[in-house]
Amino acid sequence: MALPPILIQNLRLPVVASPLFIISHPALTLAQCKAGIVGAFPALNARPESQLDEWLAMITEDLAAHNAANPGRPASPFAVNQIVHMSNKRLEHDLRLCVKYKVPVVISSLGAVPEVNAAVHSYGGIVLHDVINNRHANSAIRKGADGLIAVAAGAGGHAGTLSPFALVQEIREWFDGPLLLAGAIANGGAILAAQAMGADMAYVGSPFIATEEARASEAYKQAIVDGMANDIVYSNYFTGVHGNYLKPSVKAVGLDPDNLPAADPTKMDFEQAVGGAKAWKDIWGSGQGIGVIKAIEPVSKLVDRLEAEYTAARTRLLL
Ligand SMILES: Cc1cc2nc3c(=O)[nH]c(=O)nc-3n(C[C@H](O)[C@H](O)[C@H](O)COP(=O)(O)O)c2cc1C
Repeated sequence: MALPPILIQNLRLPVVASPLFIISHPALTLAQCKAGIVGAFPALNARPESQLDEWLAMITEDLAAHNAANPGRPASPFAVNQIVHMSNKRLEHDLRLCVKYKVPVVISSLGAVPEVNAAVHSYGGIVLHDVINNRHANSAIRKGADGLIAVAAGAGGHAGTLSPFALVQEIREWFDGPLLLAGAIANGGAILAAQAMGADMAYVGSPFIATEEARASEAYKQAIVDGMANDIVYSNYFTGVHGNYLKPSVKAVGLDPDNLPAADPTKMDFEQAVGGAKAWKDIWGSGQGIGVIKAIEPVSKLVDRLEAEYTAARTRLLL
């Protein structure tokens, strides 16, 4: 099935930059769109909630000005992530603003809800829902999502445990719509591999933490540069949901990353305090793909590298 034009217009690479709690903000999103990939941020990053109106106005105006000044290389679309969970009291407010600004792509996480899809469809936008298994994928499409993000093992943040091959193969048995693959994709060859497996696009998160535009501390960015797959721990201790985190940040708050207790499932809280440390702010999320991130760079340089590697991989395979 052809991909919706609203998702792929002006794309240089088949990549959506994934939304990163705390880290993604307008400067990062705009740099991603101008570099030729879909830029994204979580609505919850705008705080207080009134700031979301300002961010969306700024992004919309900035992209329009950029496109007017660069008709030969206009920016790619942007996406806003909505956490659909009872703990998100802002959902209705934030969704209303997505409708007001006609946000091209909405990425829904956790709950798949028909009302969210209907609101985005009312102005011609599309909804991509992220899932960690085939059952959730099926339910999201039945409830009206336009496309899926398959979050495989090794992804940063709240991640699944399934092999990307297993996940994409199962979903492609019955779904021929837009399908993105996430999890440790950090070079151009991996983007091409995602497409070879049956996904349409790659969803890339952790590499953008080590960019100049990211809203992360220098120590966090450097830990991404220094880290390898072995430095990542998968645990539900910090938020109640399993996710991947950098071991050095766990050690820094006095915990042993190799012997973490299990979380209390009745106390799920995405920003839970653990012994005075805050998940995401002090306990740093990261996927397993960071071994190929060698420097803190501007977004444009990272995307240039991904494109050069993607082209080289295609040439090598004579595609
Ligand atoms: C620090 C961090 C914060 C994240 N925050 C969010 C979020 O707020 N909403 C969301 O849907 N996904 C979030 N994710 C998951 C990403 O959107 C995406 O699934 C993941 O980064 C892909 O794997 P990769 O990091 O290995 O590329 C986060 C990931 C990381 C590393």
